[in-house]
Parts: sequence; structure tokens; C-alpha cells
Amino acid sequence: MSQLKVSNDSWSSQTVFILAAVGSAVGLGNLWKFPYITGENGGGAFVLVYLACILVIGLPILMSEVALGRAGKANPIQAMSNLAKENGASKLWRLLGFNGVLAGALILSFYTVIAGWAVAYFMQSVRGDFSGITAEAAGVNFDELLANPLELLFWHTLVTLVTIVIVSKGVKGGIEKAINFMLPGLLIILLVLLGYAMTTGSFGDSVRFLFSPDFSKLTWESVLVAMGHAFFTLSIGLGTMMVYGSYLSKEFSIVKASFWIVIADTAVALLAGLVIFSIVFANGLEPGSGPGLLFQTLPVAFGHMWGGWFFGSLFFALVVMAALSSAISLIEPAVSWVNQQWGVERTQAAWLLGGIIWLIGVGTVLSFNEWKGLHFLGERTLFDSLDFITTNIMLPLGGLLMAVFIAWVMKPSTRADNLELSEGWMNLFVLNLRWGAPIAVMVVFASNLVSADRVGFMIAAILGIYAVYIWQVRRG
Ligand code: TRP
Repeated sequence: MSQLKVSNDSWSSQTVFILAAVGSAVGLGNLWKFPYITGENGGGAFVLVYLACILVIGLPILMSEVALGRAGKANPIQAMSNLAKENGASKLWRLLGFNGVLAGALILSFYTVIAGWAVAYFMQSVRGDFSGITAEAAGVNFDELLANPLELLFWHTLVTLVTIVIVSKGVKGGIEKAINFMLPGLLIILLVLLGYAMTTGSFGDSVRFLFSPDFSKLTWESVLVAMGHAFFTLSIGLGTMMVYGSYLSKEFSIVKASFWIVIADTAVALLAGLVIFSIVFANGLEPGSGPGLLFQTLPVAFGHMWGGWFFGSLFFALVVMAALSSAISLIEPAVSWVNQQWGVERTQAAWLLGGIIWLIGVGTVLSFNEWKGLHFLGERTLFDSLDFITTNIMLPLGGLLMAVFIAWVMKPSTRADNLELSEGWMNLFVLNLRWGAPIAVMVVFASNLVSADRVGFMIAAILGIYAVYIWQVRRG
């Protein structure tokens, strides 16, 4: 590997990058996951921690990841290799890329299963199944879907196939058009639903649930979940934003774009939360009911509101599209790697990787029925375990290493070329990425490994190890 391998793809315009990145960020994470984990973790305090993680950890790492991609000009593995070489650092930095490619494949394997639920719901809505449905009936309906492995498998297969076909068409091929139509559509539907939520009489309860923090409900595990979700929802820590950044040209402002991505993503999550909890409280449902939350509440709303058949069908169609524009971005790091590294044609790479990912996804399908009793990592089913390892461990770990690379390893001139920050902001940014963000991530990790009375000791140990590690990294 004497010469640098770089990517030849590019976006057709710079603003398309923002749209594609928002398309990647806005997905099941916002519409499905954020409301249900907020419900499971008690509401307001969790939301506050999540927002803090977005601002202090998410935003700076998003900027860093895009900058790493643009500077490294390739898929995550090759980009890290290129950057390590240019900055005189160890070859082992490629492992950061591997972590991301693997995490992307694992996340996609269950992401398509959940997106499949949304396809099933789209069909049900079109058939008029939700008309006049009660909250109990909606719950039974959801349980029946999960109990049916063949149906889940069918939708999982369909979503995987569509993802493969889009990705095989390349960067400009299908993604850009789908996104132009999808994002405005999603926003309009969310606003319509918000209007409906305000008529339920429980909108105030929903606002209170999301925004009045009760810290007694917060555990270290919820902090870990909030932090993991900040990574998940912004699509960072894995290389998605790196690949998307590698298709960017030099003149573009990564800082501004990152702000827009964060604002759009956060707004969609909060709106979805407001809508869903209004319906939950209006119908006496349980906010902590887990992954089924979205699928048990929204049918009730659509079943009773004016034009519910129309809006319901449109909504689930949009969930599917939001999921697809994210699914594409989960497989793209792997596809571009196989394509650039071994010269395997993009189409073949997409089918090969898609096939492997589909197979892993079968495990998630079964974890809701046949393998329900099979537990890994404590109480977790296979699906919960995959979600936990990727979201709560691999993504924060990836993000942490990106922060270390940008702030400790990269030449200040390269950093300044890619992130047009004033001197004061740049200093703050680097300080945060050197100490603030990595230590926050490590403390949250560690707090989940040890019992409460040892946290202080753990933090001291982390600081020590981190200092030694950085000293090593700096020596090259
Ligand atoms: N951000 C997407 C969501 O919220 C999921 C996603 C797409 C993702 N690409 C990613 C998550 C890369 C982590 C890393 O649904």
C-alpha cells in the first residue's frame, strides 16, 4: 500500500450533502427509538441528558467525522489509513474504520427488521385496518405481528432488497431524488400530527413528561443509553458521515452544515416525542412499553382523526422512506470499502454485503418469537444485545477515537483547513475533544462497569490511562 487510495465519487451539489446527511440522521432513531427509550427511562431528565450529549459530544464529533472523511478522501478504513500516514501516526488507526464498518453492518441487520414493521403498518393502514381501533386492539395487533416470523422475514427481506438496489445505483443515482421529496413530506406530516396531538387534551402532560426533569429516575445505565442514542441519531461514530464527507469538495463549510444537521435531527425527535406521548397519555397507555410504543400509539390516533386513513398511510410511507435513507448510509461505508479496497464493482459489493447483513437480520426476526427466551448479555434478547453493543459501545468508542485523532494526532494546519472556526472557537473545540468529550464517554462507560462506590476510583484510573495513552499517541 504505497500509494493512497482515494474515492472518485462526489455529490452533485454541496447542499445535497446536507440533505443526504439529514436523510441519514433522521430515521427510525428519531421516530421510533427516541420516544420509546425516553419512555423507558422516565422522560425529562433523560431528555436533558440526551440534549447535553448532542451539544457537548455529538455536534463536535459530527464536525470531526465529516472533516476526517473529507481530509482522508476515502471509505472509513482507507481514510484512517491515509490520515495516519499523512500525520505520521500508527497504522492501527485503520481499526477505527473496521469498528465502524462492522457496527454499520450489525445495526443495519436489525434496522431493516424494524423498518419492515413500518412497511407492514403502511399496508395495514392502506387496507383501513386502523379505522376506529382501540388502544388494546392496537396492542394485540402489534403482538401478533411480532409473533409471526414469516411475516417479519418477508418485510425484512423486502427492505434489505430495496436498500441494496438503491446503494448499488451509486451516490447520485437514487438517494438524492428520494431525499428531496422525503424530507419536506416528513416535516409536513409531523406538523399535522402535532396539530392532532394538541386536540387530544394530553398535550400538556406530554410537554411535562418530556421537559420537566425528575433526576431520581436517572441511572448510569440511562445516561449510557442517552449518550449512545446521541451517536445513533446523528449517525456518528461509525463512518457514515466520514464517507459522506469524503464526497465533499474543499470550499464547503462543515461547521455550518453540522449545525443544520443537528438542528433538523433534534427537532424531528422532539416533535415525534410530543406527538407520541400526547397519544399515550390520552389513551391511558404505558410510556415505558418499549420498542412497540410507536406501533401501538399511532394507529390509535390515525383510527380516530379526520382523514386518518390518508395521513396514516402517508405517515408510515414516510417512516419507511426515512428508514431507507438511513439504511443506505449504514451500508455505504462497507460498500465503498469493498469497492475501493478490492476493486469489486459497487453492485456486487452491495449484493454481497447485503446478503450477509440479511442473514444476521434473521436472528433479530427470530428474537421476537422463536428465540424470545434466548438471552445474551444479561436479560437481553439477540436484538437487544445487538442494539446494545453497537449503539452503546461501538459507536461511542468510534466517536471517542475520532475525537482523539482530530484533537491530538492531526496537524493543526489540516484541522484548520477543514474546520473554519475562529481562533477562540477552535481552541475550545480542541480542548473539548482532547479532554471533555473523551473523558465524558469513558466515565459513562466505566460507571456501567462498576458499582457506584467505586466510580471515583474508576475516574482516576481513566484519567491516568488516558494520559499515558495520549503520551504514546503523541510520540507517534
Ligand atoms: N441516524 C439514523 C437514525 O436515527 C440511523 C443511522 C444511519 C446511523 N446511519 C448511521 C446510526 C450511522 C449510527 C451510525 O435512525
